[in-house]
Amino acid sequence: MKEPVHIDWLTEVDSTNAEVRRRLPELDDLSVIASLEQTAGRGQRGNTWDSSPGENLTFSLVLKPSDGGFPRANRQFSISRAVALGICDHLESRGINCRIKWPNDIYVKDRKVCGVLIENSLSGNEIVSSVIGIGLNVNQKDFPEHLPNPTSMSLCTGEEYSLEAELDGLLSRLLERLGSLANDGVPLAGEYAEKLYRLNVSSEFEDCLAGGRFHGIIRGADETGFLLVETAGGTLKKFGFKEISYVI
Ligand code: BTN
Repeated sequence: MKEPVHIDWLTEVDSTNAEVRRRLPELDDLSVIASLEQTAGRGQRGNTWDSSPGENLTFSLVLKPSDGGFPRANRQFSISRAVALGICDHLESRGINCRIKWPNDIYVKDRKVCGVLIENSLSGNEIVSSVIGIGLNVNQKDFPEHLPNPTSMSLCTGEEYSLEAELDGLLSRLLERLGSLANDGVPLAGEYAEKLYRLNVSSEFEDCLAGGRFHGIIRGADETGFLLVETAGGTLKKFGFKEISYVI
């Protein structure tokens, strides 16, 4: 397992992903920038990421291996998969049962405890670098009302955590899982599918392209990250990230 070379803890920054991208040329592989506060935290689908200052983990890990330890660009989903499993490993080591809400939100029951924003730089079919931004709700207990269904480690267990210790523990788990990327992360595919939120039960989805809602059963995810959903009549359909969202 590789070790992170350096963790840079900031008091405040706009977004750790943005800061890493600005400093990318000078940062080594496995560098981490963490911040107690983000003033413009970024989420998936152009959303913001809200996190109470000093209560949670907001950090970004840089991958830019020089030894070809990356999947090909058309298998970049394997980075998402390894990261989601690493976060689950860490939460489970703290006694928190969690699931992966495709593609890489981490849920405890029907509530979101962690979000991930991965930004890859590509050159042809090569991934040159990957910025893995993670927002893990750790000690926060009150959340703004506009957040649909947040939770935190502390709300799950009643304990208070040291942010430094949680970051160290989480990074160890992430690096163990990211070690599988050299062979396109294939060994993790089964485990990822098994941990999917609402696997094999009927769920309601929003069709983001055609509009409207439909019912289907999640049966897994394919190698390129498409969600496999069994729809009415038993047909298995593939959906990309921008094509579908859960109704919770
Ligand atoms: C999501 O679920 O929408 C993804 C949230 C990702 C938030 C993290 S916090 C650290 C890093 N910096 C950012 O600006 N975003 C990610």
